[in-house]
Amino acid sequence: MKNINWRSDGFRIVDLVHAEQSPGEVRAQGWIRSVRRSKEVTFLAVNDGSCLASLQIVIDESAPDFGDLEGVGTGACVVVNGRLVPSPGVGQNWELQAAGVEVVSLAGADYPLQKKRHSFEYLRTIAHLRPRSNAFGAMFRMRSRLSHAVHTFFQERGFLYVHTPIITANDCEGAGEMFRVTTLDPENPPQADGQIAWHEDFFGSKAGLTVSGQLQGELFATAFTDIYTFGPTFRAENSNTSRHAAEFWMVEPEIAFADLNLNCQLAEEFLRYMVGYALEHCAEDLVFFNQFVDKGLIPKLEAVVLAPFQSMTYTEAVDRLQKSGQKFSFPVEWGCDLQSEHERYLTESVVGGPLFVTDYPAGIKAFYMRSNDDGQTVAAMDLLVPKVGEIIGGSQREERLEVLEQKMRQAGIDPASLDWYLDIRRWGSCPHAGFGLGFERFLMYVTGMENIRDVIPFPRTPGNARF
Ligand code: 4AD
Ligand code: MG
Repeated sequence: MKNINWRSDGFRIVDLVHAEQSPGEVRAQGWIRSVRRSKEVTFLAVNDGSCLASLQIVIDESAPDFGDLEGVGTGACVVVNGRLVPSPGVGQNWELQAAGVEVVSLAGADYPLQKKRHSFEYLRTIAHLRPRSNAFGAMFRMRSRLSHAVHTFFQERGFLYVHTPIITANDCEGAGEMFRVTTLDPENPPQADGQIAWHEDFFGSKAGLTVSGQLQGELFATAFTDIYTFGPTFRAENSNTSRHAAEFWMVEPEIAFADLNLNCQLAEEFLRYMVGYALEHCAEDLVFFNQFVDKGLIPKLEAVVLAPFQSMTYTEAVDRLQKSGQKFSFPVEWGCDLQSEHERYLTESVVGGPLFVTDYPAGIKAFYMRSNDDGQTVAAMDLLVPKVGEIIGGSQREERLEVLEQKMRQAGIDPASLDWYLDIRRWGSCPHAGFGLGFERFLMYVTGMENIRDVIPFPRTPGNARF
């Protein structure tokens, strides 16, 4: 994708380092990544975040127009005017022969990003500065482009984008992981009958941050047929793992007139498209991840685009795990939730690629999933991928009013509390299905990064909401 040069004050560096021909005299601006001095010339590598590569600036300090560049080092902000000329050096086609350098501001020797390579753990402690590193430059460019790809995929297929609410009264997954949203005084909340009087709270009832846009998404699917949401979701899940965040972004399509098969078909087409998009539109950044983070990443992604995904039922998966001869820390038996070690074994060692696991026991899945005729399982699907495990969770929804009410009571949910959700089963109910892709898990998969804290700009995890 070629950028439109909209700036009247100069060029973005991506347009200079990848120029087809020299635009002649240009102005470039950015932050210094490195300074190299020799007797006659000084080389600055200047980066403005528009691409991984930095622009090489060549400064002849003996030229009369140059002031003192003493003290200009890594991190300083500069504006350079000069001529873009073919570079005799290796590693770049063009360099900027500076006619003048304006130092906008200096960065002292205490600037934390001096070294070429820092550990991801260290960079997490300076999350406000890490966007200026190569790895996080690459990561957040990919995050931005792949967000765009989500919209392109669904918009090209006629899906309606719906903004589902962030504040809600419903815990969609029923797992009790909602963050409370309240304006009541925590020191002195109003009481009624010896309990907190939630009806006096801002929304007139208990409210919290959404864990999923699905329930509202279903309402829109039964009006617009094919819809999707893409927004932040929140879970007060106290699991300090490398794959869980308290705030993450989820892509949730919901489709009417659909069963579990069509749902899996959409999920497969979507994931393939997203991986193909990354290969095509994030090539330079992917080469970086392939080289420094996960060797073999690019061939793995290329294979995902080509091969159809495999699928097995939960019952088959349990059987495969039990017969595997592997020692798992959590033993497997029918009815148990699959742990990440099981998911990874299935996708990494059994199939060696993405794997749909379908038809889970009703007891370990949410109330809204459609009951199968066997009376034991529900029409659920999880998509598992190597290294990350579950990346997508979805299902066909229970569209039969009585069955759904029954399931809600079994799950301890008062049907009256979700009367609006049940209404679409009362009037014009239809089979429908959908899924949620954890956008951060997807980014981990596509970049090879191993910690969810390193694929989101400012991670929120237990004990951490700084920055
Ligand atoms: O499997 P989950 O909980 O499914 C739902 O929320 C459904 N309402 C989705 C739907 O059918 N519309 O979550 C979906 C995906 C997971 O597969 C995972 O990728 C991601 O969301 N996810 C998380 N990602 C990061 N941190 C967490 N704490 C996550 N919890 C779920
Ligand atoms: Mg799930």
